[in-house]
Amino acid sequence: MDDNNRWRIYNMKILLVDGTVFGTKTGALLRQVEQYIKEFDSSLELEILYFSKLKHQILDGSPLNDDMKMMIQKFEEADGYIFATPIYQASIPGVLKNALDMLPPKALRYKPAAIVANGGTFQHHLVVENQFRPILDYFRCLVTPNYVYTHTSHFGENDQIIDQDIHERLRELARVFVQYCKMSESLTKEPIDKH
Ligand SMILES: Cc1cc2nc3c(=O)[nH]c(=O)nc-3n(C[C@H](O)[C@H](O)[C@H](O)COP(=O)(O)O)c2cc1C
Repeated sequence: MDDNNRWRIYNMKILLVDGTVFGTKTGALLRQVEQYIKEFDSSLELEILYFSKLKHQILDGSPLNDDMKMMIQKFEEADGYIFATPIYQASIPGVLKNALDMLPPKALRYKPAAIVANGGTFQHHLVVENQFRPILDYFRCLVTPNYVYTHTSHFGENDQIIDQDIHERLRELARVFVQYCKMSESLTKEPIDKH
């Protein structure tokens, strides 16, 4: 069976990555995206990977623990990704970069990806565009052109998203992501070049 036909038989697996190790808003944002994706395509298999539930290990050459092995396997087996990240020190959290450093460079190749981020200041929304997206570009992900950045003020009690504009942006992100999933179905993952 060639790579093109594989996708017509198996449902695509989408890994939703919650890159926060404490706090709750990033997870709430991710679960809202999950809900909107389901509305657009119920055939996708969605799984949330909460970094807060993993025993993280700094990449220092030591043998990897079971949680890190499991995390890497989930990344490798997924057909697409939604990344949710808080902003730390005008960047992505070290734990998220550390996790990405553990992945084989070809593990995410030509797979769709979308980013949502949450910060305590509005001024850091370009962290997504200028810092996170280039990493996913390096992996050759199909990164959706739209991302969503939320601020603490967009959340109400129990981390409900209370801003209507954010809901619309998240729905649009989900819509485009589902289209990117379909687009990736027809893109053979085996490259012609050796890079
Ligand atoms: C160590 C640390 C550094 C942070 N630095 C920034 C920052 O530079 N810019 C910003 O907008 N928010 C910053 N914040 C606020 C977090 O982005 C915000 O608390 C987080 O997105 C809330 O989501 P959570 O509940 O999932 O943790 C920082 C928070 C922490 C804990």
